[in-house]
Amino acid sequence: MVTIAKTSIAEGTRTRELLMQHPGFRFAGVGSYLPDEIVTNDDLTKNMDTSDEWIRERTGIGQRHVGGTTSSLAAEAAKRAMDRANVEPADIDLLLLATTSPDFICPGTAPAVAQLLELDCGALDIQAACSGWVYGLVMANGLLLQGMKRILVVGSEALDQITDYTDRNTGILFGNGAGAAVVEVDPSGASELLGWDMGADGNYVSILYAEHGDVLKMDGKEVFRQAVTAMQRSARNALKMANLTVEDIDLVIPHQANIRIVEAAWKRLGFSMEKTGMRLEETGNTSAASIPLVLDKVLDEGRISEGDTVMFLGFGGGMTWATTIVRYAGERA
Ligand code: COA
Repeated sequence: MVTIAKTSIAEGTRTRELLMQHPGFRFAGVGSYLPDEIVTNDDLTKNMDTSDEWIRERTGIGQRHVGGTTSSLAAEAAKRAMDRANVEPADIDLLLLATTSPDFICPGTAPAVAQLLELDCGALDIQAACSGWVYGLVMANGLLLQGMKRILVVGSEALDQITDYTDRNTGILFGNGAGAAVVEVDPSGASELLGWDMGADGNYVSILYAEHGDVLKMDGKEVFRQAVTAMQRSARNALKMANLTVEDIDLVIPHQANIRIVEAAWKRLGFSMEKTGMRLEETGNTSAASIPLVLDKVLDEGRISEGDTVMFLGFGGGMTWATTIVRYAGERA
């Protein structure tokens, strides 16, 4: 455990004292998985009145993947992350699975994923819609502070189970996929979770929801508006906690919902698209899986180096939102 004096955290809280004894926050391994079956925008035009041109222009989405279950997709992504981290099942202290499309209402999906991975540890679902994986990172950091050594944080979605692909309001957006990270203590002191923000506002349940046994219903315009506001607020809160400015951020990975949401928020925040990780064109909106799916891609592209300051910024149904800023260290960085 490395002791680093931090004076930038909002005053007087237990959080502040604990962060002074930060355990490091290293991305030991990252992996992602997309099921084979692809539904292109042109495919959708067979069942709804839309066009490839309209979808690309209004959302930035070119296709989405379908098939698989949340547990099977999660296990594939997690296996890749564990292989890259070079760890065995016994090395994992906890599985956190962020999903908004669980295999069952009860029990949670995480125990099934743990079984597929032959883990022998606690396993639970996080349901914070598209913000879930970022919530998971904050929770993992807290548990590393409590003495855990290595936590698997997975985002996995089989959104095709709750999407009506004949509804042009929602059916153009959502797809399946999974992303996973093994985060671990880092005695070297090279990595750290520098700042975070989490929030929720139940006044907005009705703008994006699915009832038991039903598909997603959405007020797209209101979601758009609230998302742009939430992203700005959350990014600013996390930057303040980390005592950083927009210029200090080397790369931002936002939730992949709509390219125009990202552009609108960036215009107000001052982020550039050059410093932004995107995978929306290939995947559509994969909710809790979207950010780790991008992380895996940008690592492949060599866009993160050790010591870079990386922001993960999620928002989604609830409304929920969450941001983490990390001094990055890990495989492929
Ligand atoms: N294909 C073709 N035309 C469409 C269409 C589609 N899929 N959906 C709507 N249209 C039409 C509308 O009927 C309307 O036509 P009109 O001008 O003749 O009345 C026009 O396109 C504009 O519709 P509008 O609803 O204003 O579109 P929009 O720009 O708001 O885009 C969304 C709709 C859903 C793409 C957009 O609101 C959105 O992405 N919102 C956020 C959703 C989201 O990210 N959800 C997940 C959050 S985690």
